[in-house]
Amino acid sequence: MSKVILENLCKVFPGEKGHPTKVAVDRVSLEIASGEFLVLVGPSGCGKTTVLRMIAGLEDISSGIICIGGRRVNDIPPKDRDIAMVFQNYALYPHMTVARNMSFGLEMRGFPKEEIRRRVDKAARALGLLDPDNLLERKPKALSGGQRQRVALGRAMVREPQVFLFDEPLSNLDAKMRVEMRAEISRLHRTLGCTMIYVTHDQTEAMTMADRIVVMSEGRVQQIGTPEDLYHQPANRFVASFIGSPTMNFFRGTLQRTQGGLTFLEECHEGHASPWKVQLNPELAARLSSRTGHPILLGVRPEHLAPESSEHGRLELEVDLVEPMGAETFLYGHTAGHKCACRITLHETKGLEGKRIHLIPDQESLHFFDPVTGDEVSGQRIPRIKLPLPITPLRKQTL
Ligand SMILES: Nc1ncnc2c1ncn2[C@@H]1O[C@H](COP(=O)(O)OP(=O)(O)O)[C@@H](O)[C@H]1O
Ligand SMILES: [Mg+2]
Repeated sequence: MSKVILENLCKVFPGEKGHPTKVAVDRVSLEIASGEFLVLVGPSGCGKTTVLRMIAGLEDISSGIICIGGRRVNDIPPKDRDIAMVFQNYALYPHMTVARNMSFGLEMRGFPKEEIRRRVDKAARALGLLDPDNLLERKPKALSGGQRQRVALGRAMVREPQVFLFDEPLSNLDAKMRVEMRAEISRLHRTLGCTMIYVTHDQTEAMTMADRIVVMSEGRVQQIGTPEDLYHQPANRFVASFIGSPTMNFFRGTLQRTQGGLTFLEECHEGHASPWKVQLNPELAARLSSRTGHPILLGVRPEHLAPESSEHGRLELEVDLVEPMGAETFLYGHTAGHKCACRITLHETKGLEGKRIHLIPDQESLHFFDPVTGDEVSGQRIPRIKLPLPITPLRKQTL
């Protein structure tokens, strides 16, 4: 039983030296299932670390309740919460060997020597600290960044905690090592089967590792869901633009009643005569009809715009930059009123810079947002069958 429950959790930092008070965490409520891998993601300063530190007991709670394993822990000191935390900067003791860094916490808690040896050995094996090279007698300074982070993981593992907390553990590693350690932590989660709460600002880490993701902004939860849910059914503009790379395209415009039904008309730069017009399918038109005549924000992901030669519903994109990625190509450009990126698998993209191409959106993958509140207003349930393979189920199938 290592379910974690946060109920209306708040953190207000008192203002110092004339600074106003800061609401760092604002009524965060979450239920993290036993054995779940939950990722808290959001831009720097949105309150992720503060949430984690409150769960760990390193930060006082301003209001709200935290339960771990069915026990209210608000007033329980960190060492008795049965959690272990892994930090971005590793926080290893520089003068201690790898083995001692891992065993020290258990020694302080008075664990028997035999038990300590068993746990350190088990963690070291699981993390590749014994093979191919035995690193146990080295000092941290003689290790690479990736190896140091493994030791930090090992130190958390030997505690055999109910809950692991990770605060941006991969941020100090180079890109290749990050990908390796991502897989390593996912593997560890499957092997240990314990609850993990993982904080990152990196949406790719969130998408690839999480069972569920919590997107935060300015201390508040914006949306909670599986990686697929957040990607395909973002609740608001913030989530839509935060998840996915290149990011979703947004077009300001209005909905207008036309002969054929309801049409989205792109807002253009002054003097520009060819706005994008999309006639909505009847289902979307019915859902959005109450917004006829009002401004609206249309969102479409780069992969949901396909090159198209016909005139109908086309978006004219003047290509500014071509980024070949190998299997696919990103095109960045502008329309009559907006910047826009698209993601295509065409091979013949050479010389497209400065040219105009025509794109047509996948109607079933359009999102509409209220321009004031940012809320998604079409309630579009995107049929998954049409979309590229989602990452999480694939990961679960193959491992
Ligand atoms: N000890 C503190 N005193 C005052 N403000 C703080 C303190 N710690 C964090 N904050 C503020 O609270 C907000 C959230 O911080 P943090 O939880 O570290 O964000 P994140 O981890 O998402 O980058 C930030 O605006 C930060 O400046
Ligand atoms: Mg942080």
